Amino acid sequence: MVYFSSLLFGLSAITSVLAAPAAAPAPTAAPDLAKRATTCTFSGSSGASLASKSKTSCSTIILSAVAVPSGVTLDLTGLTEGTHVIFEGITTFGYEEWSGPLVSVSGTDITVTQTSGAYLDGGGASWWDGEGSNGGKTKPKFFYAHNMISSSITGIYIYNPPVQVFSIDDSTDLTLTDITINGSAGDSLGANTDGFDIGSSTSITISGANVYNQDDCVAINSGTTIVFTGGVCSGGHGLSVGSVGGRDDNTVSGVTFESSEVKDSQNGVRIKTISGDTGSVTGVTYKDITLSGITDYGIVIRQDYDDTGTATTGVPITNLILDNVSGTVDSTGTNVWIYCGSSSSCEDWTWTEVTVSGGKTSSDCTYVPSGASCSD
Ligand SMILES: *[C@@H]1O[C@H](CO)[C@@H](O)[C@H](O)[C@H]1NC(C)=O
Ligand SMILES: *[C@@H]1O[C@H](CO)[C@@H](O)[C@H](O)[C@H]1NC(C)=O
Repeated sequence: MVYFSSLLFGLSAITSVLAAPAAAPAPTAAPDLAKRATTCTFSGSSGASLASKSKTSCSTIILSAVAVPSGVTLDLTGLTEGTHVIFEGITTFGYEEWSGPLVSVSGTDITVTQTSGAYLDGGGASWWDGEGSNGGKTKPKFFYAHNMISSSITGIYIYNPPVQVFSIDDSTDLTLTDITINGSAGDSLGANTDGFDIGSSTSITISGANVYNQDDCVAINSGTTIVFTGGVCSGGHGLSVGSVGGRDDNTVSGVTFESSEVKDSQNGVRIKTISGDTGSVTGVTYKDITLSGITDYGIVIRQDYDDTGTATTGVPITNLILDNVSGTVDSTGTNVWIYCGSSSSCEDWTWTEVTVSGGKTSSDCTYVPSGASCSD
C-alpha cells in the first residue's frame, strides 16, 4: 500500500491512500488521479461548494460539520463509481424559501454513511407554518436519492425536516438501512414531512427505518420490487401506496411492507389511487404489521383520492395480500375502509389474520372483494 498526501485542490485537507485500483478504467483525462483512492474532507461554510467542485476526484468524501448556505444544494450528483460519502458532526442548512433539495446524491456503487452521533439538521422550525407543501412558505425538500444505482444509504439521522425527506426516483438496487427521521418537534406545525417518497424505481429495500413525522412514513407512487421491513413509523399517515395516478409513471408492482409498527398515526395501512386517473397497483403485501394509536383508519384502501367523493376504476388494485395485520384504532377512528370503483377494479385480495379493532365499523364500503372485509 502506497501512502501520500497532497493539496492539489486547495481544500481544507486532502489525504490520499492508494488502494486496489478501480475495476473500471477511467476512459480519459487524468487517469492517474482518477485511479487513486483519494479521501477528501470538506467542512464549514465553504464545504458544500468545494465538495461539489471536487467530488469526482474523491473516492471518499468526508463532510465534516458542513454549514450549507441558504438556497444551496449540497450537490453530490454524478459521483465517481464506488464513492463513499461520510457525514461527520452536524450538517446544517441556511434558511431560505426555496424548493431544495438540501442534499442530492447520484451515481453507481455509492455508499452513504455517517459517523456515530452525526446528524443532518434541517432546521425545519424556521419553515413550519402548518401548511406543508400546500401553501405558506416555500419549503425545501431534503434528500434526493435520484439515479442511485447499486448503492446504499446507511445509518443516516435526519433531524427536523422542513417538508418531504427522501425522494427516491429513477433508482435501482438501492438499500436504505437504519435511517432515522426525527421531525417530532414539528408535530404541531410541521406538515407533508413524508419519510420516503418512491417513484420509477426498482429493487429498493428500506430496512430498520425509524420515522417520526407528520405525513406518509413511506409513499410509493410508482416502482417495482420495493421492500419496507423492520420499520417504526410514528406521528404520520402510515405505510402508503400512492397516491397513484396523474404522474408520468403510474405503475406500482411487487411491494412488501413487513415486520413493521405504525403508531400514533392517522392511518396504518393505506392505498390511495386518484379519482379519474389511470395506472395500476398490483402485488402489494402487508405482512406482520402492528398498529396502535391510529386516529383515522387502521386500514384504508380508496380509489377516490383526492377526496372527490367518487371512486373510479382507472387504477385497479389487484393481488393485494394482508397477512397478520393487527392492532388498535382510537374510538373516534374507523377500523377498515374499502372504497372501490367496481368489482373488477379491486380483485384477487387475500386477507388472513387481519384484526383491527377499537374504532368504528365503516358503513360506507363499496365493492369489497371476496377475501377482504370491512367489518374486520
Ligand atoms: C427526536 O427529537 C426530539 C427533540 O426534538 C427528542 O426529544 C427525541 O428524543 C428524538 N427522538 C428520537 C427517536 O431520536
Ligand atoms: C404477527 O406479526 C407480529 C408483529 O410483527 C409478530 O410479532 C407475530 O409473530 C406475527 N404472528 C404470526 C402468527 O406470524
